Amino acid sequence: APRSAFKNEPLTDFSVAASRTAMSAALDQVRKELGRTYPIVIDNKPQPVGAVLARENPSRKSEVLGKVGMATVDQANRAVASCLAAFDGWRDTPLAERTGLLRRLAEQFRKRRFELSAWIVLETGKPWRESDADVAEAIDFCEYYAVEMEKLGAPQARDVPGEDNRYFYEPRGVAVVIAPWNFPLAILAGMATAALVAGNTVVLKPAEQSGIIGAKLMECLQAAGAPPGVVNFLPGDGDVIGPPLVQHPDVALIAFTGSLKVALLINEQASKTPGGQNFVKKVIAEMGGKNAVIVDSDADLDEAVKGVVDSAFGYGGQKCSAGSRAIVLDGIYDQFLNRLVEATKSLAVKAADDPGCSLGPVIDAEARDRILKFIEAGKRESRLAHQTDLGALAEQGYFVPPTIFADVPETAGVAQEEIFGPVLSVLRARDLDDALRIANGTKYALTGGCYSRSPSHLEKVKRKFRVGNLYINRKCTGALVDRQPFGGFKLSGIGSKAGGPDYLLQFVLPRTITENQ
Ligand code: SER
Repeated sequence: APRSAFKNEPLTDFSVAASRTAMSAALDQVRKELGRTYPIVIDNKPQPVGAVLARENPSRKSEVLGKVGMATVDQANRAVASCLAAFDGWRDTPLAERTGLLRRLAEQFRKRRFELSAWIVLETGKPWRESDADVAEAIDFCEYYAVEMEKLGAPQARDVPGEDNRYFYEPRGVAVVIAPWNFPLAILAGMATAALVAGNTVVLKPAEQSGIIGAKLMECLQAAGAPPGVVNFLPGDGDVIGPPLVQHPDVALIAFTGSLKVALLINEQASKTPGGQNFVKKVIAEMGGKNAVIVDSDADLDEAVKGVVDSAFGYGGQKCSAGSRAIVLDGIYDQFLNRLVEATKSLAVKAADDPGCSLGPVIDAEARDRILKFIEAGKRESRLAHQTDLGALAEQGYFVPPTIFADVPETAGVAQEEIFGPVLSVLRARDLDDALRIANGTKYALTGGCYSRSPSHLEKVKRKFRVGNLYINRKCTGALVDRQPFGGFKLSGIGSKAGGPDYLLQFVLPRTITENQ
């Protein structure tokens, strides 16, 4: 079959008036749909609603968006049973039908682009542009994994006279996909489509904080023609349904993106092989980061300041890729810090549905309180260089002030722990070697950046800054499917990269058939 070349979905240009109008209209339309209840879906059938979780807009906590079903352990078991029953049929479905599902799903996303972005704005407090990019990335995952599966799906022949050999891949079985809220459509859809196109059946477990977007994905999957049981939608409390799903003897694979703590727990639970489970579970996990951007003494300061601000404060620092440490060389430190503070002052902290918002709220009260605790500790450990005044926003929603700490000791909590909020630590380095030592000195290895004009310094940085995604003279967030396959190692992840050429291999088992002629 001819292989379609993959191309990234273009982002919406909100400087065009028609795009702004379309997005405003979508927000108005979505606001007419508030208050609905989104049920669990098993075998393509909505389940009777029991316990629900109310979802509120983090930008305006008085605004209730809807309610999402909370699965019981019994429903979790039924979702797995349904996936298991559907597995043989889906595995044996022609590849063209499986890639067809992903391409039709991408069409659904395109058709509902502004509506889906609007839901992301309202449910997760993500600004317009980044919500739109979330939907674009979800489209990219569909199109990319379809193309990649076409490559993997062709059996490889190694024939010699008298002997035909076929090497090919089969799906693993029932996959549980457990996703975070920070890329509520893209990451959930990405992990799910990878599993599906490879022929696995999927239990879709969205984060509690983005259950409505999860339900919208399920609507799109159903509209795209996902057969009953091939995907089951199982929102719920991770503490309640996570362990029984992960430990279930019929679950072959767990794809997880989220915190280090939960990833290690899943890895541990999945490593037990209960009676009746005749295989070893596969865990794919993508965790956090404490990503650093090195600013060399000859860096272009305009670029470096902008890049560090974008890396640190994009979506309020709530990205695993966020640059939460700036490591600045001695000679340029004071100048950089002054300009960094000025640039941060100019960020527009607003409700995410406001088109002028550059920084919205954090996801919920728990996140806000956790981040504020880090800020309090940071004040004791180092010097507060800037904190934006929130005014009335602090009462209106779950806002945290963009905060910069300076002269941060490399061992401080704010220099070592993933905060997942709008908090940037600035550290001083004697020279490039010192900067690299500090940069590599955490338990994580996800993204990193370096601003420099010196070729020999950049050469050294490329060799010695050991992270999954290293960015030279640009921000360290915003990886694009195919162009920047995304993922890290050490305690940032198991070592695979979403949106990259090796990702699907984790969802399959290789087989060889030899036929004597
Ligand atoms: N892929 C996202 C980024 O690169 C993070 O999950 O920012």
